Amino acid sequence: MIIRKHPAYLSVEAIVGDRTVLRKLEEGDLQRTLKWLRDPSVNKFLSQDFSSFTQEQEFQWFNFMKNSCRDIVFAIETKDEHIHIGNCGLHKINWIQKSCELGIVIGEKNFWNKGYGSDAIRSVVSFAFNRLGISRIRLNVYQYNVRAIRAYEKCGFKKIKTLKNDHLYEGKYWDTFVMELVKPGA
Ligand SMILES: CC(C)(COP(=O)(O)OP(=O)(O)OC[C@H]1O[C@@H](n2cnc3c(N)ncnc32)[C@H](O)[C@@H]1OP(=O)(O)O)[C@@H](O)C(=O)NCCC(=O)NCCS
Repeated sequence: MIIRKHPAYLSVEAIVGDRTVLRKLEEGDLQRTLKWLRDPSVNKFLSQDFSSFTQEQEFQWFNFMKNSCRDIVFAIETKDEHIHIGNCGLHKINWIQKSCELGIVIGEKNFWNKGYGSDAIRSVVSFAFNRLGISRIRLNVYQYNVRAIRAYEKCGFKKIKTLKNDHLYEGKYWDTFVMELVKPGA
């Protein structure tokens, strides 16, 4: 079977938002990405503990993403100076159910709380709904990640489920919220 990315992803050059530009993640972005993933003050919010993630694992992940028809990954750049500040992606894309999961990391911490994350989320959501034909996007977020929850809510995501005491962090069990955004009219 030939695995192909969606034509809309193959042909997209850049997704321009108000504050950010999304472009395809490239091999040259991996070193920077690995630094972010290994940073405990960043990876405490992520789906797995990347503290000891290696360059080789990162490269394998990149190749997997490149060849997967169910995942797409973008680099997030600032619109004005084109600084690569993070990555976002759509994962577990189910083309039959028209659903996927959203992942995002702004790894440059001095760019947190300045609207870049919500702008990138709006861009990738719009690409999913309007170019890929996706109608339902879900994500998981830890209870202590109030910044992310606020950013998702600003973009229209709603909490649809609480996984009680699902996540152990610093000796305490925290809830995980499942959040969802459904395309209007879908
Ligand atoms: C989550 C993330 C993508 C959000 O991007 P961002 O650019 O920092 O977020 P934004 O500036 O767009 O929005 C953050 C909002 O949270 C608010 N916020 C921040 N800290 C807060 C707090 N402690 N309590 C309440 N609100 C808070 C901000 O004020 C802002 O809301 P406002 O615009 O109404 O003022 C980014 O911070 C990030 O990548 N964090 C690390 C990795 C991560 O958490 N990924 C998501 C995993 S689910």
